[in-house]
Amino acid sequence: MPETVTVLGIETSCDETAAAVVRRRLDGEAEIISNIVASQMEVHAPYGGVVPEIAARAHVELIDDVILRALADAKCGLQEVDAIAATAGPGLNGGLMVGLTAAKAVASAASKPFYAINHLEGHALTARLTNGLAFPFVLLLVSGGHTQILLVEGVGAYRRMGTTIDDALGEAFDKTAKLLGLAYPGGPAVEAAARSHSMGADITLPTPMVGRPGFDFSFSGLKTAVRQTAQSLADQNDGLSQDAVAAICHGFQRSICRVLTDRVGRALDDVAGTFERQLPLVIAGGVAANQTIRHALETLVADRRSHLIAPPMALCTDNAAMIAWAALERMEAGFTPDGFDFAPKPRWPLDASTAPKIGYGKRGAKA
Ligand code: KG4
Ligand code: ZN
Repeated sequence: MPETVTVLGIETSCDETAAAVVRRRLDGEAEIISNIVASQMEVHAPYGGVVPEIAARAHVELIDDVILRALADAKCGLQEVDAIAATAGPGLNGGLMVGLTAAKAVASAASKPFYAINHLEGHALTARLTNGLAFPFVLLLVSGGHTQILLVEGVGAYRRMGTTIDDALGEAFDKTAKLLGLAYPGGPAVEAAARSHSMGADITLPTPMVGRPGFDFSFSGLKTAVRQTAQSLADQNDGLSQDAVAAICHGFQRSICRVLTDRVGRALDDVAGTFERQLPLVIAGGVAANQTIRHALETLVADRRSHLIAPPMALCTDNAAMIAWAALERMEAGFTPDGFDFAPKPRWPLDASTAPKIGYGKRGAKA
């Protein structure tokens, strides 16, 4: 193992085409040397969500330039890179194929080892890149595609404690926004509308799963309640006023905060029993941008004399620095590189115990 380790990472699992160079320096510090993210948000906005075929085509158009920009920004030639990594799943098959093919081609041409990375592992390990956080910790991952509570005990040692049984939380925000005629992506629009709520009475919406055993989530009932409330307010008042939209968004966010603090609180208490101390809580994913949610979680951990770690927003949402970092952590932990025959895995649970046992080894899933 060289004294510094430098990894080029590539991420194409959803609607961002991203490449980054991350280094472990001689002094042991981790450093993001470049971090390029080309967002396709505008391409998908007219459809109110990500269109897989359009995403795949956009990745093909952007990927070469994004990789070259990441290397140029890092002032780094391929000969200085120790490994190439790409997201292999979970995500949209077409996009995964583009990133994986590019990474394998670069690794093959430059004779460098190749690592196929689980996107969720990237999110799970980010707080170690940004904050040098020690294992173990609890991760709340809340994005457009995922809603999970994970116990992170080491590189490759993840236990999924809870997940959504229907919609992801970001998806619930996006669908709520669409129902109320707000812009895409819905999260920021719902948050802004909720902040403007001051007129009239508060609206109380359901809080699915609160008080139930376990740590799972469900958001589809809340979405239905939003639709019914909006419909009845519109019927009563001959249309949905801005004040009514603000009141619904406020009520929606309040329900979400109740659900999150209940589920995450239970998870924190559960692991505190096992470890005989409170573990830190990390939040990641696009929904982590929501200030009301952050505040609720801060209060939750403060009550437990623990602390909340929220990596900078650019590293909470999808990026390639987290993919390069996950590969770097795997190299340092002694994991062997992956073969060029590694195929995309649109479904790839991080926690092997929640996945089919056939084809899984000690070090996780095999292609
Ligand atoms: O992690 P991300 O950028 O992309 C993936 O889904 O992988 O997350 C995007 C999601 C969208 O559903 C968006 O509506 C939501 O994060 N989001 C928010 C906020 N900003 C983005 N949700 C609530 N409040 C926000 N301020
Ligand atoms: Zn993500």
